[in-house]
Amino acid sequence: MKIYSILAGLALAATAPVLHAQENTVTVQTRQVGAAIQPTMYGIFFEDINFGADGGLYAELVKNRSFEFTPDHYMGWKMFGNVTLRDDGPFERNPHYVRLAWAGHNDMWTGIQNEGFFGIGLKTGDDYRFSVWARVPDGKPVTLLVQFIDQNTMENRQAFVSQDLTIDSREWKKYTLVMRSPRTIEKANLRIFLSNPEHRSGTGTVDLEHVSLFPTDTWMGHENGMRKDLAQALFDLHPGVFRFPGGCIVEGSNLATRYQWKNTVGPVENRPLNKNRWESTFTDRYYPDYFQSYGLGFYEYFLLSEELGAAPLPVLNVGMACQYQNWNKEEAHAECSAEGLQPYIDDALDLIEFANGPADSEWGKVRAEMGHPAPFGLKYIAIGNEQWGEFYFERLKFFIDAIRKAHPEISIIGTSGPDSEGEMFELGWKAMREQKADLVDEHFYRPVDWFKNSMDRYDNYDRRGPKVFAGEYACHDHGRNMKWNHAGASLYEAAFMTTLERNADVVHMATYAPLFAHVEGWQWRPDLIWFDNLRCVKSVSYYVQQMYARNCGTNVIPATLSTPTPKGEDGLFTSAVVDKQTGEYIVKVINTTDSPKDIVLRFEGMKRLHSVGTLTLDCRSYEQDNTLDAPTSIVPQEGRLIPTDNTVRTVIAAKSFVVYRVK
Ligand code: AHR
Repeated sequence: MKIYSILAGLALAATAPVLHAQENTVTVQTRQVGAAIQPTMYGIFFEDINFGADGGLYAELVKNRSFEFTPDHYMGWKMFGNVTLRDDGPFERNPHYVRLAWAGHNDMWTGIQNEGFFGIGLKTGDDYRFSVWARVPDGKPVTLLVQFIDQNTMENRQAFVSQDLTIDSREWKKYTLVMRSPRTIEKANLRIFLSNPEHRSGTGTVDLEHVSLFPTDTWMGHENGMRKDLAQALFDLHPGVFRFPGGCIVEGSNLATRYQWKNTVGPVENRPLNKNRWESTFTDRYYPDYFQSYGLGFYEYFLLSEELGAAPLPVLNVGMACQYQNWNKEEAHAECSAEGLQPYIDDALDLIEFANGPADSEWGKVRAEMGHPAPFGLKYIAIGNEQWGEFYFERLKFFIDAIRKAHPEISIIGTSGPDSEGEMFELGWKAMREQKADLVDEHFYRPVDWFKNSMDRYDNYDRRGPKVFAGEYACHDHGRNMKWNHAGASLYEAAFMTTLERNADVVHMATYAPLFAHVEGWQWRPDLIWFDNLRCVKSVSYYVQQMYARNCGTNVIPATLSTPTPKGEDGLFTSAVVDKQTGEYIVKVINTTDSPKDIVLRFEGMKRLHSVGTLTLDCRSYEQDNTLDAPTSIVPQEGRLIPTDNTVRTVIAAKSFVVYRVK
């Protein structure tokens, strides 16, 4: 009995390693250099959703700075004493301003107080530039008291910074003050007294317009700048293309509220306010104070693209409002008539001139006057965001004809609509082929099962037609009966991206969406980067994007698995590239199963490998993601492996994404 168990034990011990060690060989053909990977391959999709622009990337800290929000022109403000709203201000397209006058009593005060976007975030030791357009209508100078306050403090004084600002001109003028914050606070308010109460003189009359507060330390130091931490996060992604300004925001809920780029350039004070369509898209997450100031406009987007080293990719309205929101089209008048299309086409042609035209051309001059005489080097333009059906196809044709005629050098991007496959999608692709669009923008926010079934999506795509721009995608796992950011979804995105990379001859661009979300102001999730008023956190999906973008190489090379994963199942997924500039081979392997896998990476065509660096994203905490309080829980970890000749033997952990970089 005893002998039998010992023998049985020995037999098990002998077989166990064999069972465990089913080797998975990834054979990399280093000599078969394939399609070039476009520099635009991995990029950024930006949309003002989730307070991504105002209250987000755009560093302005005052909400409703021009008193143009509707129906309540005082939204975001608390007014006290004698304040009146007037509408004959100095900026034609933002005519409202406020008049502050004596409160009528020597112990009463007049002033205004702004709550910012979910509060005003300030940091210890940082400087903030307060500015205001003002005048004293009776010519008598008035001294304002400008304060940073903590409305919720238990201290005796709410104000922790107070500075005087004298307004002395009868004419409208911009006044500026730099204020340093002695504390870090997430939800400060900005308060302005008509005159310093300590001087016991609440008299005088002053008009205020475009009240603004920016950190002086913005991205690249621009005055009308962006939040440094958020722009830096974009830079760190290493994006090859930057798509703006959306998304559905391009379409608008109706044509009147569509995105019109010409309203977003020139002096910020005169850029007309627009409703943000995400204010009202979801009644479950409703934000009555969500507007677009356009302080972050097309000039700023082009400049940011340049600073990020990404190709700018503007998307323009095709003469149709959002088709989802206008299902009752007859009443909604959601499409512009074919005859009325010319201004929309002109917008596209003028935009190309704005970006690329000489500094003395009509629109090139606007760019030059804004500070960029040199062209921005625009190469791509997308017409229509997520449109479908004949109305779209008919309208797009006019744009394509006009752009081809005037600017044959510009690549035109059309769309296959919101579906990832099916009749509407096929019709879209058919129309794009017929119209000879250069690229087709595909969108797919899909669940895990869809991703599992789509790991070969582009392997058999038609190579003759337009190229693919995977313009909006994310894995939307509906676990817990909701969509949310978590490492599991990110892992499937990583696995799916192998089909983008393997097929770089047909896929020229890919951008995860959406990009940003304020933790207190979101409408849509998951998102790539979350933030509050002081901090930001990069999601696991962010790191997936970054691992691809930073390891994109220059050309595809074949990588095959000895045990390919059957469609729809969990398993191993791979793709490989060579970087001709550095002479490195880069292999990506994703293990979506629950168990570790033995891996042999064999580099055919090489005799010896010098060094192997690894970058591992461990997604075993499947339901978790990084948070503002724990921003680095799941981040890529660097490692090294020792090769033997042309082979690397290793183990890839369960639910992990590894990049192997081989010299
Ligand atoms: O990314 C969020 C939205 O999803 C985009 O605005 C739209 O294009 C898509 O439907």
